[in-house]
Amino acid sequence: MTPSVQKRLVVLVSGGGSNLQSIIDACAQQSFNAKISAVISNNPDAGGLERAAKGNIPNIALDHRTFESRESFDQALSDLIDSFAPDLVILAGFMRILTPRFVDHYLGKMMNIHPSLLPAYPGLHTHRRAIEAGEKEAGATVHFVTPELDGGPAIIQARVAIAASDNEASLAAKVLIHEHQIYPKAIEWFCEDRLQMRSGLAELDNTPLENHGIIHKSIEHSD
Ligand code: GAR
Repeated sequence: MTPSVQKRLVVLVSGGGSNLQSIIDACAQQSFNAKISAVISNNPDAGGLERAAKGNIPNIALDHRTFESRESFDQALSDLIDSFAPDLVILAGFMRILTPRFVDHYLGKMMNIHPSLLPAYPGLHTHRRAIEAGEKEAGATVHFVTPELDGGPAIIQARVAIAASDNEASLAAKVLIHEHQIYPKAIEWFCEDRLQMRSGLAELDNTPLENHGIIHKSIEHSD
């Protein structure tokens, strides 16, 4: 296989940044040919900014509270992201609703990880809602971002069993371990030019991902 050209990644975080860390580690281990050009947070106190600093990665806080409107924040964010000319924008615990204009600008070039088995439980408090509904399984989904909240085409999912003893925190911790495996895998596929969004579907090696049997299976079953 021809070696791919190094991809430029920009990662957006709002919180602790454990998913960011898994991506920093995957870059360091050369799991894929990419460089994190910048980490940007809407929250100046985000732990993810510190993780980036420790990894000598440019890190920038763009506090949404200093903007008059969602539109003006998204415009400034987009200008900042574009100054790094990324191939891929990665939402890693970025807890902001994005304007359709922003999303359209990065269509097919922006991924998100969401802590549920999408299309189940888009939005907030996914683990609490899954437990309250008596679900037997929970999980996480990496997907391309489209204007519909948590509604873009799925790339990879991880499933975990919900134990009778699980509470919101224990389930979140279980799922997070799997998030740290599936997000670098999706980024690896993108960096190898194997993954793209076409006609509203995620394709791996030119085949819609649902035909690969990867979605709806746990990470243990993926390639
Ligand atoms: C992760 O569980 C991620 O799936 C979730 O926030 C957490 C961030 O953790 N994202 C969302 O809920 C997006 N809707 P991290 O900061 O340790 O990566």
